Amino acid sequence: MCGIVGYLGGRQATPVLVEGLHRLEYRGYDSAGVAVLDGGEIVVTKTAGRVQDLRDLLVDSPATVGVAHTRWATHGVASDRNAHPHLDAGLRIAVVHNGIIENAEQLRARLQADGVELVSETDTEALAHLIAQQRADSLEDAVRAALRGVEGTYGLVVLDRDRPDELVVARNGSPVVLGVGDGEMFVASDVSALVHHTQRVVFLDDGELATLTATGYRTSTLDARSTSKVPTTVAVAADAYELGGHEDFMRKEMAEQPEAIARALRGRLDERFATAHLGGLALDPMALRAIRRVKFLGCGSAYYAGQMGAVLVEELARVPADAEPASEFRYRNPVVDPDALYVAVSQSGETLDTLAAVQELRRKGGRVIGAVNVVGSAIARECGSGVFLHAGPEVSVASTKALTNMTVSFAMLALLLGRVRDLSAAAGGRIVAGLRGLPGQVERVLADDADIARIAKRYAHARHMFFLGRVRGWPVAREGAQKLKEISYVHAEAYQSAELKHGPLALIDPDMPSVVVVPADDLVAKNIATIEQVKARGGPVIAITNADLPDGLADEVIRVPRGEPELDPILLTIPLQLLAYHTAAALGRDVDRPRNLAKSVTVE
Ligand code: G6P
Repeated sequence: MCGIVGYLGGRQATPVLVEGLHRLEYRGYDSAGVAVLDGGEIVVTKTAGRVQDLRDLLVDSPATVGVAHTRWATHGVASDRNAHPHLDAGLRIAVVHNGIIENAEQLRARLQADGVELVSETDTEALAHLIAQQRADSLEDAVRAALRGVEGTYGLVVLDRDRPDELVVARNGSPVVLGVGDGEMFVASDVSALVHHTQRVVFLDDGELATLTATGYRTSTLDARSTSKVPTTVAVAADAYELGGHEDFMRKEMAEQPEAIARALRGRLDERFATAHLGGLALDPMALRAIRRVKFLGCGSAYYAGQMGAVLVEELARVPADAEPASEFRYRNPVVDPDALYVAVSQSGETLDTLAAVQELRRKGGRVIGAVNVVGSAIARECGSGVFLHAGPEVSVASTKALTNMTVSFAMLALLLGRVRDLSAAAGGRIVAGLRGLPGQVERVLADDADIARIAKRYAHARHMFFLGRVRGWPVAREGAQKLKEISYVHAEAYQSAELKHGPLALIDPDMPSVVVVPADDLVAKNIATIEQVKARGGPVIAITNADLPDGLADEVIRVPRGEPELDPILLTIPLQLLAYHTAAALGRDVDRPRNLAKSVTVE
């Protein structure tokens, strides 16, 4: 989704800005632009297309202050004109903006009535004109005054031709982070664009503004009360955002899963009492016992991970649990159960629908914790307590290691909830040992890469695919279908295996392969019957399994190691990542930047 970079200091701004944009490319975008202050004028270069196309258009400039943007179209198509930065009519104010201004139509109409000629179709352009119209003593006051009439979400940075020594930043619902350098200041929508320059950062809160100069910053609220923000050090190694010899980030992040799981488990497993310690939950045993229901809320893969979490909680703790897309929950006036534990699941911690679900829950007095990867993110801060995923930065749009660490974290949560109830020490010890064994087992699945690549190539021509599973295998099938469609653009549909015969079986023919997830559980015989139903209609079958299947039953069998059965969904998900990856590669797709998608969706 849209990305922002700003710079102010002693260096040439353009290379810093463009390099920052390159680092934000992974978020997804369709146009890019830069504005710098050069010779007393704001010089804007922008284009529909990639950051590389923008770089080709840029000329060398001595400018030491500027703003830059990658845009993901919301108001108006992706075009040169609609790309940011946007200027006011007097060419004095340049604005880059993430988010959506909801009353943009009224603002644009009012500006046109005032005789302002709008040159783009965007909501952002209105902001530039509005800021320029304010009569205020400082740029900060002008931005503040303009924002008073603005409804919607924004993370924005403003450059003023007449104030070359400062940038003004504002946030409401769309993240902006300040980077504090030595005699220079940075701002970005994501720390990944900053960590190469500085690890000292300041996260702005919603409703906050900041004025940056080369030597520092000051922050205040929209109603002009000053706030005090001390920089925090982000413990992110700059090379986390480098490919380090891998072809792309998805491959790198899949390969990092064993160490990511080990990090999530570190210090959290207790062999003595056969349980887990999740200090960030801030719930004592009595509070844990009082929980009568668990509900996971997330979007996309985070929702499917939540579904795996719900199965784990029901199995290990015998507490009713389910998962729901956060976007549905927030809009349906949910009945909030005071005895339930709600878990907001998000890699980025910035997904707007998930954040809104958390806010709705808190407003209604619900108990909500976060399961979030990015420390300091909006959802983590809004929840106040929860489980950090410790997957490390995830760049590829298709979530792999973060999703795995979500399910690993839910296994620990389920274990903890189980052990304050009726899960025996022996059963708890079995899960603790199973979790400890996971990194090595995942390593073994990853080693199967060449065989999975062969299978992917064989079926890459398919226009449609089914993903089938039941109980533990069902959320795995859903996540497998999601991965395939998002990066390969092959239509994939997940079904509960038993539902197949109630309609979709009509679609099975030799051109419709089915991926069937078969955990080694009590339902193996049922899953064998499903495979036979598909085979009887000529449908090719790829089985993902750690059970003993009759020889020749499926056309292809991808085996994963056998561990503790409750943890099977974690292991069974890994081959599906590889299957999607190699299908996308065989079709020549850009796996890290799938069309139309963004890494974190900070708009509705
Ligand atoms: C976007 C991404 C998905 C991701 C979802 C939730 O749609 O394309 O891959 O699963 O957002 O993101 P989150 O950061 O909240 O986990």
